[in-house]
Amino acid sequence: MQTIFSGIQPSGTITLGNYIGALKQFVELQDEYNCYFCIVDQHAITVPQDPAQLRKNIRSLAALYLAVGINPEKATLFIQSEVPAHAQAGWMLQCVTYIGELERMTQFKDKSAGKDAVVAGLLTYPPLMVGDILLYSTNLVPVGEDQKQHLELTRDIAERFNKKYNDIFTIPEVRIPKEGARVMSLQDPLKKMSKSDPNQKSFISLLDDPKQIEKKIKSAVTDSEGIVKYDKENKPGISNLLSIYSIFAGKSIAEIEQEYEGKGYGDFKGDLATVVVGALEPIQKKYYELIDSPELDAILDRGAEKANAVASKMLKKMEKAMGLGRKRK
Ligand code: AQP
Repeated sequence: MQTIFSGIQPSGTITLGNYIGALKQFVELQDEYNCYFCIVDQHAITVPQDPAQLRKNIRSLAALYLAVGINPEKATLFIQSEVPAHAQAGWMLQCVTYIGELERMTQFKDKSAGKDAVVAGLLTYPPLMVGDILLYSTNLVPVGEDQKQHLELTRDIAERFNKKYNDIFTIPEVRIPKEGARVMSLQDPLKKMSKSDPNQKSFISLLDDPKQIEKKIKSAVTDSEGIVKYDKENKPGISNLLSIYSIFAGKSIAEIEQEYEGKGYGDFKGDLATVVVGALEPIQKKYYELIDSPELDAILDRGAEKANAVASKMLKKMEKAMGLGRKRK
C-alpha cells in the first residue's frame, strides 16, 4: 500500500476551501492508501497566534478531521508538535535548502508583504514541511493548488539530499483535485479563501451556523450582469459560487447553469446556502459529539505513538546519512 501524508494548519477554523481542496480528498483516499493526517501546529506559529486560541484550534481541527469522515482505524491522525522528529528533520533539511529557494515561495511573499518585522520561521518553514512529508516515505501528497510550489520544493530537496548523502527518501507526487483546487474569497474572488483572513465575510467556516452561512453567501461579491454562468475570467465571483454549488450538490456546472436560466443571483444564492447548510449539518453534529470527548484524546495519543515510531526511524537514517551523533550498535 502506498503512503499519503498531508497536513492542515490550526490557524483558524477550517473553511470550505480547506475542505474542498484538502479534507474531502483525504476521506476519499483513506481506503486505498496508508494515510498520515497531521495538525501542523508548528507551521501555525510562523504568524502571531494567541496561545489559548491556538490550543483550542488544534483540538477543534482534530475533531473536524474526524467529523468529515476520517476513520482513525484506517488513517493515523496526529499533532505535529507531539512528534519531535518533525522539528529535528526540519532543521536538518534547512541545511540543504538555499535561501534563494525560500525567498521565491509565493506564500512567503504574500504573508510577509507590507510587514516591518518578519520572523525567520515564516521564511524557513518550507523545509519543516519537507520533513513532515519525507519522514513517512510518502508517495502522494493531496493538497490544494496553493501548495503546489511547496511540493515542487519538497521534491527538489529530497532529490538533492538523496544525491548528496544517501538515497533514503521517497520522492513524493502531488495530488491536486480537478474541481475546487482553489476556492476563492467570497469578498474578493481574485484572492484565495483563507481561514486566517481578518474579514470573516470572506470565508465560510465548517462550524458557521445556518444564519451566518446564508448571510455570507448573500453578501458574496458577484457582478452586475445577473446571469448565472461560469466564466472564471470575466465573472470570477459567480464562477466561484458555481464551483462550490457543483461540488456540494454533486451536479455539473452546466446542469446548474441550465437550472438558473432566466433566474437572478438572489434565487441562486438562496439555494446555494441551503445546499451548503445541508452538507455541513451532519459534520457539525458529529463535531459537537466529539469535541469534549475522551475518545478524541485517545485517538490523538494513538496517532502520536504510531507517527513517532515511523518518523523516528527515518530521522535516524537522516542522522546517519549526514554523519550526526555517534555510531551505535
Ligand atoms: N482556498 C482554498 N481552496 C482549496 N484548497 C485550499 N487550501 C487552503 N486554502 C484553500 C488547502 O487546504 C490545506 C490546508 O491548508 P493549510 O492550513 O496548511 O494552509 P493554507 O494553504 O495557507 O490555508 P489557509 O486556509 O489559507 O490558511 P492560513 O489562512 O493560515 O494561511 C492545503 O492542502 C491547502 O492547499
